[in-house]
Amino acid sequence: MPKRIAVINGPNLNMLGQREVDVYGVQNLETINAGLKQRAHELGADIEFFQSNGEGELVTFIQQCRKRVDGIVLNAGAYTHYSIALRDAISAAEVPAVEVHISNVYKRESFRHTSVLAPVCIGVISGFGSDSYVLAMEALLRLN
Ligand code: DQA
Repeated sequence: MPKRIAVINGPNLNMLGQREVDVYGVQNLETINAGLKQRAHELGADIEFFQSNGEGELVTFIQQCRKRVDGIVLNAGAYTHYSIALRDAISAAEVPAVEVHISNVYKRESFRHTSVLAPVCIGVISGFGSDSYVLAMEALLRLN
């Protein structure tokens, strides 16, 4: 059975390519996802995508990943820094998750240095632009 990866993006990531391009680059989410899909297929994995600006919708989607997907690539945007609801959803899903950021959050404002999600993720990748997603997916696919 091929492994199945869910790539989940939170608030404002639907604005990639238009939003703060000096920080987040010029690629939009569609282009990033197309690249991920191609890489997933090269690696023999299945992939699906979800984006929402709403915390509740993200919680529901993460819950639905339980027993259905093998790994979660999660850029929760600003929710990373304070959403206990998302943290609890990741814990409840019992699916290995990698926290992803396009920017290096540790080079930025101090409020971005806190992640309430990192303790329930297997790792964090931050600062590699859109490659952060690819690196996270590849790391998940290397797990046994
Ligand atoms: C981000 C970093 C967050 O601090 C910010 O709120 C975002 C994007 C990133 O990908 O670099 O929306 O997660």
